[in-house]
Amino acid sequence: MAYETIETRIEAGKVGIVALNRPKQLNALNDQLMDELGAALKAFDADDAIGCIVVTGSQKAFAAGADISVMTKYSFADVYKSEYISRNWEHVRSIRKPVIAAVAGFALGGGCELAMMCDFIIAADNARFGQPEIKLGIIPGAGGTQRLPRSVGKSKAMDMILTSRMMDAQEAERAGLVSRVVPLDKLMDEVLAAAIVIADMPRLAAMAAKESVNRAFESPLSDGVMFERRLFHALFSTADQEEGMEAFLAKRAPSFSHR
Ligand code: CAA
Repeated sequence: MAYETIETRIEAGKVGIVALNRPKQLNALNDQLMDELGAALKAFDADDAIGCIVVTGSQKAFAAGADISVMTKYSFADVYKSEYISRNWEHVRSIRKPVIAAVAGFALGGGCELAMMCDFIIAADNARFGQPEIKLGIIPGAGGTQRLPRSVGKSKAMDMILTSRMMDAQEAERAGLVSRVVPLDKLMDEVLAAAIVIADMPRLAAMAAKESVNRAFESPLSDGVMFERRLFHALFSTADQEEGMEAFLAKRAPSFSHR
């Protein structure tokens, strides 16, 4: 499929890369981009060769937020009737394979929210995160008021959302928003290395692990633990569980079939 606002490629035969590509607008997120991103993610999710997906931007901007030049024309009736955001921003959440956000430069507003919808964030040392929507007379509308406090705690989330200040990569790592910070010129190498490690893991276990960690944010502890326990039990029915354990005991490398 030909895309205009994103670029896609496959690395190492098993990692699907989606690069947001509206450089003049710092990857501002409009409908076309969100539609194309959703289509690309779903295509990689359905491709048996792919074991991990990476969403990235440019060195200057992961994404500077929802497209303000489009939003400025919207009324309440427009956004409410057409389910703005819900209509095409939720695809990332439906992807079952692991998704890494590789963030360099600005990740603001919807850009920060998109990164937080991914499973984890690896940041370049020039990354800057923020939810500056309040300056536009709105609030974060793609999950920022919910995911940011779950990630960095209430105090820092309130500070960022109410003052609109940006967080640099080091602060984001200290706060737990990102899993690691790497030099800008090493970002894609480091992310690709992590993505290959994940893609080589037994696929069903990786998908179950993702599903179970995400359940931690949706349910009381006892329900989450029960969900985890049942998936853990279910994995004993897979060929890769047998292979992984036999290979360990035989002191050889496992050969996973992803079944
Ligand atoms: N929407 C539309 N266009 C945007 C944009 C956005 N979110 N962010 C940047 N651009 C455009 C600029 O208008 C500018 O276009 P022109 O060259 O045609 O003037 C171009 O990208 C480059 O931007 P700047 O000249 O502003 O670049 P800078 O380096 O001086 O500043 C910046 C960079 C700090 C990121 C600044 O562009 C900025 O503050 N952008 C807006 C950030 C923002 O408010 N994001 C939240 C949007 S609301 C939202 O996301 C709602 C939601 O929760 C879903």
